[in-house]
Amino acid sequence: MKKFNLTIVGGGSTWTPGLLQSLCKMKDRFPLKKLVLYDIDEERQKPIGEFAKILFSEEYEGLEFSYTTKVEEAYKDVDFVFIQMRTGGLKMREKDEKIPLSLGVLGQETCGPGGFAYGMRSIKDMVNTINDIRKYSKDAWILNYTNPAAIVAEALRRIFPDDKRILNICDQPVNLLRSYGRLLNMNPNEFEPVYFGLNHFGWFTHLYDKNGNDLVPKIKEIILETGFKPVDAEQRDKSWLDTYAIVRDMLVDFPDYLPNTYLQYYYYPDYKVAHLNPNYTRANEVMDGREKRVFEECRKVVEKGTSKGSSLVHNDAHSEYIIELAESIAFNKHKIFIVIVENNGIISNIPDDAMVEVAAVVTSNGPRPLAVGKIPTFYKGLIENQLAYEKLTVDAYFEGSYQKALQALTLNRTIVSAKKAREVLDALIEANKGYWPELK
Ligand code: NAD
Ligand code: G6P
Ligand code: MN
Repeated sequence: MKKFNLTIVGGGSTWTPGLLQSLCKMKDRFPLKKLVLYDIDEERQKPIGEFAKILFSEEYEGLEFSYTTKVEEAYKDVDFVFIQMRTGGLKMREKDEKIPLSLGVLGQETCGPGGFAYGMRSIKDMVNTINDIRKYSKDAWILNYTNPAAIVAEALRRIFPDDKRILNICDQPVNLLRSYGRLLNMNPNEFEPVYFGLNHFGWFTHLYDKNGNDLVPKIKEIILETGFKPVDAEQRDKSWLDTYAIVRDMLVDFPDYLPNTYLQYYYYPDYKVAHLNPNYTRANEVMDGREKRVFEECRKVVEKGTSKGSSLVHNDAHSEYIIELAESIAFNKHKIFIVIVENNGIISNIPDDAMVEVAAVVTSNGPRPLAVGKIPTFYKGLIENQLAYEKLTVDAYFEGSYQKALQALTLNRTIVSAKKAREVLDALIEANKGYWPELK
C-alpha cells in the first residue's frame, strides 16, 4: 500500500494531539511514511512534538516523525498538508468575541464582526503559507481547516484561481451528521447528505439512509419533541450544549431544512447578545478548558515516557473527517464529503463565483460537487446577503478599504446599523493593529 508524507501546519494547535491519535488509529487506511509538525511558535510546538514522539514510538511503527519551525523542512517533498492555524492566537479570539459584545452586538469567533476581524488576520498568513508550500511541493494536496473558512476560501480563490489542490473544509456538518446518528441510533457513515449554503451558513435538505429513505422528517420530529445534543455531549462545555439546543427553535421558525448550528447567530442576534457573557466568552472557556487540558496531558505523557492510559480530550469527528478526506483523495475512494468549493452552477440561482459548502464526491482528482439546483427565495436572500458581506470583507482586505469594511459590517445581519458598524469597526481596527492592512 502506498504511504504518504504529511505536514500539519499549526502543529501547536489544541486540535493537533487528537489528530495525531486519529492518524495512529487510521494508519491502515491512510498510511504515512513521514509526518512533520510545523508551527511558528516553538513553545506551543515542542510539548506536542515531544508527546508525538512517544505516541508514534508506541503506536506507529516505522513512521519518520519530526517537528519544526522551518518552512523548508516542513514543505519539502510532501503529499498532503493539513492546516489549522490561528493568527493572533486565542488571545485575539477573546478580543474578537469581547469587543463587539461590549458594544452590544454579537461577539463570535467566525460569525459577525468577530469573524470579520479574524478573517482580516487570517488572510495574510494563509496566502503566505500556500506560497511557501508551493515553493517546495507544487502538487501537494492542501486541506485547510483554518477559520473563518468562508473568508479564507474566498481570499485563496482570488489569489490562487488555478490551484485545484487547495480544499477548505469545516467539521460542523460532520459533527451534525454524527449527532443525527446518535439521535436515530444509526451509523452516520451510512448517511448520504444533501447540503447547501456557505460555510457556517447552510442547511441539510435531505439525508438518505442506505436504502434511499430520507431521514430528515424523522430527525425534525425527534428534535422538536426531545431537543438536540452533540454526539459527544458528555465531553462538551456548556456553551456548545446551549448552541445545539437552539436548533430546536430554528426548526420551529423555519421547518424546511435542518439548519447548521451557526445560523442561530444570524436568525437571533439579539437573543444571543442577551445570553452571552461579555466577560467570559468561548475563548475563555477554551483557554481554561481544552487548551489547558491538551498541553497538561502532553506534558504528563512526556514525563511518564508513555502515552498508554493517557486521556487526551479530543474530537473524533474533527480528526477523522480530514483524514478520511485525504484517504478518499489518496485512494480515489469516491466518498461523499461536504466541502467548500466554487459554486459554478451547483446552486443554480446564486453567483458562480461564490464559495459554497455542498456535498461532493471526492476522488483522486479532487471534489466533484453534486448539483443542488434552485433554492427558495428565503434561503437565496439570506445567502446573497451573507455572500456580499464575505466578498466585501475580502475586498476590504486586498484594497485596504475602510469603505468596503464598513459596507461589509453594515450588511452583516448581526449588526445592520451603519453607525454601529462604524463604531465596531473602529474598535476592531484599534485592537488589530499589526495584524490587518491599514484601512484607508
Ligand atoms: P490555537 O491557537 O490553539 O492553535 C493554532 C496554532 O497555529 C498555534 O500553535 C499557533 O502558533 C499556530 N500558528 C499561528 N499562525 C501560524 C502560521 N502563520 N503558521 C503556522 N502556524 C501558525 O487554535 P485552535 O483553537 O487549536 O484552532 C486552530 C485552527 O483550527 C483555527 O483556525 C480554528 O478556527 C480552526 N478550526 C477550524 C475548524 C473548522 O471547522 N474549519 C474546526 C476546528 C478548528
Ligand atoms: C466547530 C466549527 C469550527 C470551529 C469550532 C470551534 O467545530 O465548525 O469552525 O473552529 O467549532 O470550537 P471551539 O471549541 O474552539 O469553540
Ligand atoms: Mn467550521
